[in-house]
Amino acid sequence: MFPHMELAVLLELLLCLEAAVRFGVHGRQQWPVPYRRFDHRPTADSYCEALYPFCPTGDRDGRIPYMRDDDVISVFRLQTPVWEFKYGDLLGKFHIMHDAIGFSSSHTGANYTLEWYELFQLGNCTFPHLRPEAPAPFWCNQGAACFFEGIDDLHWLQNGTLEKIGEVTGSQFNDMAQWVQLDNQTGIYYETWTVRSDPSPNSTVWFESYDCSQFVHRTYRKLKELGAKLTSRSPTYYTKIYLYSGEPTYLGNDSAIFGTPALENLAADIRKFYFTFRPHQSFLDFAFSLLEAYKKIVMDKTFYLYYNFEYWHLPMKYPYMQIVYEELPLP
Ligand SMILES: *[C@@H]1O[C@H](CO)[C@@H](O)[C@H](O)[C@H]1NC(C)=O
Ligand SMILES: *[C@@H]1O[C@H](CO)[C@@H](O)[C@H](O)[C@H]1NC(C)=O
Ligand SMILES: *[C@@H]1O[C@H](CO)[C@@H](O)[C@H](O)[C@H]1NC(C)=O
Ligand SMILES: *[C@@H]1O[C@H](CO)[C@@H](O)[C@H](O)[C@H]1NC(C)=O
Ligand SMILES: *[C@@H]1O[C@H](CO)[C@@H](O)[C@H](O)[C@H]1NC(C)=O
Ligand SMILES: *[C@@H]1O[C@H](CO)[C@@H](O)[C@H](O)[C@H]1NC(C)=O
Repeated sequence: MFPHMELAVLLELLLCLEAAVRFGVHGRQQWPVPYRRFDHRPTADSYCEALYPFCPTGDRDGRIPYMRDDDVISVFRLQTPVWEFKYGDLLGKFHIMHDAIGFSSSHTGANYTLEWYELFQLGNCTFPHLRPEAPAPFWCNQGAACFFEGIDDLHWLQNGTLEKIGEVTGSQFNDMAQWVQLDNQTGIYYETWTVRSDPSPNSTVWFESYDCSQFVHRTYRKLKELGAKLTSRSPTYYTKIYLYSGEPTYLGNDSAIFGTPALENLAADIRKFYFTFRPHQSFLDFAFSLLEAYKKIVMDKTFYLYYNFEYWHLPMKYPYMQIVYEELPLP
């Protein structure tokens, strides 16, 4: 009996060791699943083609100018609707906003915009391409920070927000700039969806999105950590695209799923799932894809989420999907 127990303990230890990579110390999955950081950003595959060039007026190497330590830099909250065109009622139902941060140096008078967005547009970050020559769905899902000189007041003011929310010193700005570069090198992909157990405020968050507004909030938190005080006269709202599901199940990465004959059925199911909503060129197409996704989710109660370059199965439940424009106070 004794040796058996030892064997059982050993086995358990081994299993725990293996699980420790993905699970917390108590042998349970950590929620929300931490967004994976990389040690550098790989060059995007040449298959991915941007409709609009990324960061056309930014520095080629992403350099951020150095401010005099005693400079006083104003910080602006910038927000504008993504749907800046009319396509009838459909888009009116979506309240998708783009967020950015503005800076203005009192020493030089120059001002700057800092934002974080998709390299190959939102549709390509949300839905993959099914390429006949490749078994696994192909994602053009990189996102990155863009820093450029100028603030286009008109762009942000029309139906949007341009509000000064505080001041930082030049030296605080320089520290933030260093952090932005590190954040930009290690956080490389865009994630559209936030996944949680239900709409109630105390629900479990399974996965956090990683998008422009998350970047803006990370930067605000960094500025606060560096000693800045940020305040807004009006409530600050941000767009979240929610999925609602029961506890997700880990499936595996591309090679595990699409390179293992035993998982042929799962592989086919994932391809079939994404076939319905291939990425498209325009925001209108993207909106239609969201509607298609919604219909499919309600019917099949299944969503295959791609997070950290790995697939998860989400057992979807009511209300399935929501686009919420919700308040999130400044830190
Ligand atoms: C999405 O990716 C495809 C394939 O690379 C590309 O043809 C298309 O232009 C991209 N979409 C947008 C909106 O850039
Ligand atoms: C972030 O990374 C992208 C992609 O490599 C690059 O184009 C951009 O200049 C970088 N931005 C900053 C602020 O470092
Ligand atoms: C701002 O909103 C108004 C009213 O909805 C609309 O008529 C106008 O075209 C919008 N302006 C821009 C630049 O989107
Ligand atoms: C940014 O600079 C431009 C050009 O000097 C100016 O027109 C604009 O009002 C400035 N915006 C802010 C928010 O400082
Ligand atoms: C979560 O909040 C709801 C009301 O918003 C409450 O009824 C419920 O008991 C709460 N559950 C937990 C576990 O705190
Ligand atoms: C995919 O997952 C397997 C384990 O399931 C691992 O050995 C492999 O390194 C992973 N591949 C990548 C590219 O992360």
